[in-house]
Amino acid sequence: MRLDRFLSEATGMTRSQAKKALHSGEVTVEGEITKKSSEQIKEQMVCLNGQPLKRPSDRYILLHKPTGYISATQDEVHPCVLQLLPTELRRGMQCAGRLDLDTTGALLLTDDGQWSHRLRSPKKACSKVYQVDLSNPLTSAEAADITERFAQGVQLNGEEQLTLPAQLVVLTPTRVLLTLQEGKYHQVKRMFSAIGNHVVGLHRLQVGDIQLGSDLAEGEWRHLTPEEVASI
Ligand code: URA
Repeated sequence: MRLDRFLSEATGMTRSQAKKALHSGEVTVEGEITKKSSEQIKEQMVCLNGQPLKRPSDRYILLHKPTGYISATQDEVHPCVLQLLPTELRRGMQCAGRLDLDTTGALLLTDDGQWSHRLRSPKKACSKVYQVDLSNPLTSAEAADITERFAQGVQLNGEEQLTLPAQLVVLTPTRVLLTLQEGKYHQVKRMFSAIGNHVVGLHRLQVGDIQLGSDLAEGEWRHLTPEEVASI
C-alpha cells in the first residue's frame, strides 16, 4: 500500500493532509523521516509525530460458520466462508484456523498474517472448546474412563505422538464439551474414533478467550474487540 494511503486509512486524514504531513517531516518509516507519498508500505513501522500507527488494513473477524461452507478463500465445489462477509471486507482475508465442512461455530478470519500465525502456533497453545454430539451414549463408567484417557493423551491413527492433555466435560450421555490445546487434522473426530465412538455433530464454542456467544446466528459475523485481538 502507498504511504499516503496508509496514512489516510490509519488516521482518517485526507490524502492531501497526509501529503502535507509527509512534506513537513512528521512521518517516519522504520525510524527514518520519509517524504515520498508513493513509498510502498508492507510490514514496516510507520509513525506520525513519533506515534506508531496501527496498520489500517488489519481486520479481525469472528464468524459463526454454518455447515456446508469450506474454511478456505476459494474452492471449486463448495461455497467458502469468505462469501459470508461483505465484499469490501474480503480483500486479503484468510482463515485463522480451519473447521471441517460439517462443523459449525467459531471461526476467526483476519488479514494480519502474524496474528494468524500466533493463533495457530503450537507454542502459543491457544485452547479451543468444542461441543461434541456422539452416536453412542456414554455410561458413567465410560465417561470417567474417557475423561481420564483424554487427559493422559490418546494415540491417533497415523500419529507417533500422543495427543496433548485434553479436558472432557460430560453434559449428557451423547453430548460433551472437549477442550483441546492443539489442532491436528480432524482431531476431535479422530479422538472419538480412537475410543470407539463417532462424532455426529461438532460445534466450536471458543478459541482462546474469544467466545462465540448466542448473539451471532449461523452465517453472522462481528469484528473482534481490541481486547480480543490483543488476547492472542
Ligand atoms: N476437529 C475436527 O475433527 N473437526 C473440526 O472441524 C475441528 C476439530
